[in-house]
Amino acid sequence: MTGIEIEPLGSAAGARIHGVNLSRPMTGNVFGQVRQALLDHLVIFFPDQHLTPDQHKDFGRRFGTLNVHPHVKPLDGHPEVLNIVKEPTDRFNFGGGWHSDMTFQQEPALGSILYAREIPAKGGDTMWANMYLAYDALSSGMKQMLDGLVAVHTAEDIYGTNGIYTDDGRTMRTMAAEQASGRAEHPVVRTHPETGRKLLFVNEAFTTKFKGMTRTESQPLLDFLCRHATSAPFVYRHRWRQDEVGFWDNRCTQHYALNDYQGQRRVMHRATVDGDRPY
Ligand code: SIN
Repeated sequence: MTGIEIEPLGSAAGARIHGVNLSRPMTGNVFGQVRQALLDHLVIFFPDQHLTPDQHKDFGRRFGTLNVHPHVKPLDGHPEVLNIVKEPTDRFNFGGGWHSDMTFQQEPALGSILYAREIPAKGGDTMWANMYLAYDALSSGMKQMLDGLVAVHTAEDIYGTNGIYTDDGRTMRTMAAEQASGRAEHPVVRTHPETGRKLLFVNEAFTTKFKGMTRTESQPLLDFLCRHATSAPFVYRHRWRQDEVGFWDNRCTQHYALNDYQGQRRVMHRATVDGDRPY
């Protein structure tokens, strides 16, 4: 017996895992249960964790290698950890739009592990959308049309020279924004490598067009898919607790960090686990 307890939180996604201390190495049995909980619930939360950045990274490394973000300045001394900070005077936050992490890379993230270091007294929730449900809800005609369609994902609109991170009003700065050259092509309908389920794999931050089409030609269908994918029945919204760790399966979710806590400080650390090439 391991003492692990899984408390489901939302119908679209989300579960809280009790009885795991992430600062210590997990046994194979606990690791197996945590991994299964991630596959079943898409985003899982571990309350009351006290982790050093090294322990945070060790937990992530149980699931794969860690990503070093090409554009965002990391936590000092820890290239694999993003220091996601919004100061009381900042106007913009990091991740304040629907997206999946690193889809502008050939092998987008398996998942990201976010550690709540300092949360505002109110606001600062994060939402996740379930991309299996989004795919399942499409008509058979739309599913047929999307089958075989490939989308182009780039970092340009977000991290490029004219991307949103060049705006003033944010503490989080990007490095080498002018070199935001990440570009990848992925199937619009992806099969999850572990569950074998099909899901919709486009997001409004990084998906810019369909392969072989112009941006203008692509935009109407992309707009529909992005709006559909994030509609209310597919979304779980989480109110963070101080010292909580959240881990999402980036392969089958999108997320959105709400920017509704002006005048307060919010600090999160993120370690991102590398994934594989979508098919
Ligand atoms: C992100 O990784 O997009 C940020 C999520 C958050 O800060 O809630």
